[in-house]
Amino acid sequence: MKKNILFPQVNGLLHGGDYNPEQWLDRPDILKKDIELMKEAGINSVTMGVFSWAVHEPTEGNISFDWLAPIMDRLYENGIYTILATPTGARPAWLDEKYPSAMRCNEMGVRNHHGVRHNHCMQSPEFREKVRIIDTALAQKFANHPGLLMWHISNEFGGYCYCDTCRKKFQEWLAKRYDHDINKLNKAWWTTFWSHTFNSFDQIDPPYANGENCVMGLNLDWKRFSTWSATDFMRFEIDTLRSAGANEPTTTNYMEMFYDYDYHYMSQFIDVISWDNYPEPHNNWQSDEAHLLERSFNHALYRSLKPDQPFMMMESAPGVVNWRPYNKYRRPGMHNLISMQAVAAGSDTVQYFQIRKSRGSSEQWHGAVIDHIGTNDTRIFKEVASLGADLKKIDEITGTLSDNKVAILFDWDNRWAIDDAWALANDTKNYDKTCMEIYNEFMSLGVEPDIVSSNGDWSRYKVICAPMLYVLQDGIGEKIAEFVEAGGQLMSTYFTGYVNKDLLANLGGFPGDGLDKVFGLRSEEIDTLYPEDEISISILDKTDKRSHSIPVHDYQELLRDVTADVLAKYDNDYMAGTPAITRNSYGEGHAYYVACRTNQNDIEFLYREMLENANIVYTKLPVGIEKHSRFSEDCRYDFYLNCSDKPVAISGVSGLDLLTGKDIDKQLTLEKYGVAVIKNKL
Ligand code: GLA
Repeated sequence: MKKNILFPQVNGLLHGGDYNPEQWLDRPDILKKDIELMKEAGINSVTMGVFSWAVHEPTEGNISFDWLAPIMDRLYENGIYTILATPTGARPAWLDEKYPSAMRCNEMGVRNHHGVRHNHCMQSPEFREKVRIIDTALAQKFANHPGLLMWHISNEFGGYCYCDTCRKKFQEWLAKRYDHDINKLNKAWWTTFWSHTFNSFDQIDPPYANGENCVMGLNLDWKRFSTWSATDFMRFEIDTLRSAGANEPTTTNYMEMFYDYDYHYMSQFIDVISWDNYPEPHNNWQSDEAHLLERSFNHALYRSLKPDQPFMMMESAPGVVNWRPYNKYRRPGMHNLISMQAVAAGSDTVQYFQIRKSRGSSEQWHGAVIDHIGTNDTRIFKEVASLGADLKKIDEITGTLSDNKVAILFDWDNRWAIDDAWALANDTKNYDKTCMEIYNEFMSLGVEPDIVSSNGDWSRYKVICAPMLYVLQDGIGEKIAEFVEAGGQLMSTYFTGYVNKDLLANLGGFPGDGLDKVFGLRSEEIDTLYPEDEISISILDKTDKRSHSIPVHDYQELLRDVTADVLAKYDNDYMAGTPAITRNSYGEGHAYYVACRTNQNDIEFLYREMLENANIVYTKLPVGIEKHSRFSEDCRYDFYLNCSDKPVAISGVSGLDLLTGKDIDKQLTLEKYGVAVIKNKL
């Protein structure tokens, strides 16, 4: 049974991408051909209007969508839906000329010149008024159009603005956060240090590059404010569309491991999660399987932002991008693999930037479904069309969801705070990488984790890993304690629970906020290692004897007051003989603490133990194989992806392969970059 949760009017998965007919208005022959080619490639949706403001409104107040309406109608008549963008990602020259406040100021507070894109001030009242006018007109014209699927708000929100308007807004935001009490802010930011005390909120600047930028609380609050500011702008656009009669769902396209804003916060205010996926396969530093696993982590992160519905892969490159130092084409088969990986991980769409390659300007050499040659027989076109046909074969997975029992905690505040802390070694903090390595270890056991925030909903999980959870938000110590007490398996590491949400060190020992009792230990020192340092730990067997040794890199903590079971001890240097990995029974569950950084694969026994304690079935997968599962009410769909460039046999797989129509009996063999979608009744 097909159930399209995102777009009930669409039968099956979406296949399409960014389409810019405004570049070809003087070529009706091309516009006509585009539709034929799209149909041939199995394309059923386009995203239009992303940067079309200057076409919509060539001079101030002179708004017309006469160019767009017939194109949208024609696409719809041909079975192709439209995702319509608000055009605010780039501004017409007249706007910046007349309203310079629309242009962003850089980190020195200096105003940018007109040009490029994504450089607007989200708080400029003049800019907002122009946005209100164009968005209202768009919604009045196109809301409820039968071909309109959703609203795409602006494009790839990002960056910070240091203008005076934003400075003022920051001060107001701080006053609200600290109850209009400057002493409360001074306390939270520990401003007696270096005479940084403020007398009033209006003395506070953004962290200018040539100003105050070493008050950790200020830096973090600036990032929180900038998240709020971008979200506030996005909400303003959504509210404008809604007030003008738009009822369709909204999205905005996120980016890979995006750093500037907290997507957990932003996502509360949009209907559908989408992101732009630009992997770099066949690179010269990483195997394809390792590289694609990083993508897989991104998919998991974005899937987990709204776990009760599929997400969208809003953009990806047909063939090649043109903005990297080296722009290498996807080898045959890779396009299919990358696209299917998104679907496997929970996307109900495969979308591209771009459908037709532009003739000039900076993206004229970026991959596209339709190349300058304009034919249906290019390698890329054929691969896209073949994928289009495959997506139809699996359309029954539309609307199915994952059902994962393992989660990794991942917080934007924590990322920012770790990177900003004057501690450890700047080159090896690697918070993101650490989370990814934990993800990879579970994936190698055929267990797919979600990625959730510490403030998120943990109720569906039995195993949670909270690596390097340096910042403990209010109530998280208690939340972790309750999770473990109720039977959860929780693993944490060095550099956890050091500070509260204001970045003030927890007093009374780390991990703070009561977690010392949950883990049955306290940490006294964290030592930073040079890459050349040779430190190791010994894993102990069941009789507490040394079983084998594994290397430690980057960080090691000295533990004290350990009442937990000791699973490993340091071998050498001044921590020799002290606990390195522990397990504490707490209530019905277990709290594991890994006090030093190791390769995750070296401590696989921990993962196995947590999964076994939680009754989660796992199987070690062959190297290069990814497995993802999606569930309908009565079926389970297992996606097997061969991310390596060699054929791989996987034993223990049975069921119907939807792509080949063949029954698989206990052994599945996948060719290089091969994919199988195995259906089984629940
Ligand atoms: C981003 C943008 C697109 C395009 C692509 C190129 O994702 O959203 O407009 O520039 O990059 O890869």
